[in-house]
Amino acid sequence: MTSDLHSPGWWKNAVVYQVYPRSFQDSDGDGVGDLPGITSRLDHLALLGVDVLWLSPVYRSPMDDNGYDISDYQDVDPLFGTLADLDALIAGCHDRGIRLVMDLVVNHTSDEHPWFVESRDPASAKRDWYWWRPGRPDAPGGAPNNWESAFGGPAWHHDERSDAWYLHVFSPKQPDLNWENPEVRDAVYAMMRWWVARGVDGFRMDVINLVSKDVTLPDGPLIWPDRDLAPPLGVLNGPRLQEFLAEMNREVGLSEQHLLTVGEMPGSTVALAREVTDPARRELDMVFTFEHVALDEVPGTDKWTLQDVPLPVLKANLASWQVGLAEVGWNSLYWDNHDQPRAVSRFGDDSPEHRVASAKTLATVLHLHRGTPYVYQGEELGMTNAGFTRIEQYRDLESLNHATAAVGRGVPAEEVLRVLAVKSRDNARTPMLWDASEHGGFTTGTPWLPANDNRDVVNAQAAVADPDSVFHHYRRLVDLRHHDRVVVDGRFEAVLPEHPQVWAFTRTLGSQVLLVLANCSSEPAHVDPAAVPDLSGSEVLLATHAAPYELTLRPWESRVHRL
Ligand code: GLC
Repeated sequence: MTSDLHSPGWWKNAVVYQVYPRSFQDSDGDGVGDLPGITSRLDHLALLGVDVLWLSPVYRSPMDDNGYDISDYQDVDPLFGTLADLDALIAGCHDRGIRLVMDLVVNHTSDEHPWFVESRDPASAKRDWYWWRPGRPDAPGGAPNNWESAFGGPAWHHDERSDAWYLHVFSPKQPDLNWENPEVRDAVYAMMRWWVARGVDGFRMDVINLVSKDVTLPDGPLIWPDRDLAPPLGVLNGPRLQEFLAEMNREVGLSEQHLLTVGEMPGSTVALAREVTDPARRELDMVFTFEHVALDEVPGTDKWTLQDVPLPVLKANLASWQVGLAEVGWNSLYWDNHDQPRAVSRFGDDSPEHRVASAKTLATVLHLHRGTPYVYQGEELGMTNAGFTRIEQYRDLESLNHATAAVGRGVPAEEVLRVLAVKSRDNARTPMLWDASEHGGFTTGTPWLPANDNRDVVNAQAAVADPDSVFHHYRRLVDLRHHDRVVVDGRFEAVLPEHPQVWAFTRTLGSQVLLVLANCSSEPAHVDPAAVPDLSGSEVLLATHAAPYELTLRPWESRVHRL
């Protein structure tokens, strides 16, 4: 069952691998990863068996938000290489049967993008390409309304030049484009067509559900349906979102050319996702929900106010998406990306005793759900959080803004550091660990973020050499998806939803039934034989531990049974 690039829905049996270019492989010793570095490591992806490489932004950028602030959509930043290097990467992927999906960041540009530079002149034809508004004396700070930016502080920046304010849902160096203006949309679609002509196979669309805003820009209640990424409500899921998505799809020929599209949509609901991913509507193939990565935050606060997540709550959340998108639409499946802490540290147990089994079990659970799985670089090695203990070690602007604000409010520095160590985006951004050498084989220079201390144990070279490694477990999961239709299409049904330790579910396609049993805890877990299907005569397709396969599961033991 190999997927054909020209067949509709090919991405349903695909696995996507995300590369964060800054941290993947440096080829020129400047301490920052680059395109030739990625190309030199493509055999790692080929060995893992993944079908798609999602490339986080490599466009020209002042790097305020590590490339999510773009100043030229049709060029590569010199830090990462050249357009020719990108062509070589695309060719290297295609030679290996891997497709390349670009990150598309079009909710905002950099403030150094020529469009924005021009728009600062109130008389310019580009003035209306962004959200320029006069201040309001009764609003906080005299801004146009009370919105806060997702990275902290007001969502408006005052520009002396015209004594007006512009909207930036993210940093002040990321002004929001005004999608109400058809010229903006045309410019975006033209740019996308240019990339398609260059050979890219799809787009991961950054915060795409923010492009349609409530044009009255009303004061918010500053409450978010999920708070991991916390823009004000008036910018989420606006009234013209689906119109814009359908228009983009049509104008770029996204569905027509079977390009993969995945929309990052904080605050999207199951109901909205079902509509947006209904193939008949030709909007998007799938969306990234934020619900499951916001469960560890106290409701009504922000991503920095932590709470424990009981397993039944996590299971129920994923199950609600499985059930909600069962008949119409399609899920994306992820634990990790460049904005999230490392899965094994967050949902697993990263102690030396349980790291490997818990990383494998988290992978099994995720990849056996229905949807397209995303693997973030290093996740396939069971890479752990950074373990930073000093504020000087952090680079991420969201983390640094939060630390400044929290310390300013009187939160003790140790407490701020404790929370950053759990939730900072830099946890995912430390260098990919290729071998046990000083910087994990990432660079011969000084890495922009230090390599994790456990690189002597956690690295690709060791993982590839060890048939029992997390890496080979991921490889087997990818293989299973490629060869077993039930993994792709099987109906999902939760089993033991209330069990506090065990994640269990079935996948059914015709007479084929798979049962996943996973102990998501560091203690043994007992499963009541009366509560699960009969396992006698079943075949174990994949397991973390060797036989015997008992109903008392060892810590982090998981198995996939074919009944
Ligand atoms: C998305 C990106 C994140 C970025 C933000 C603003 O959430 O994943 O890294 O900071 O959008 O572009």
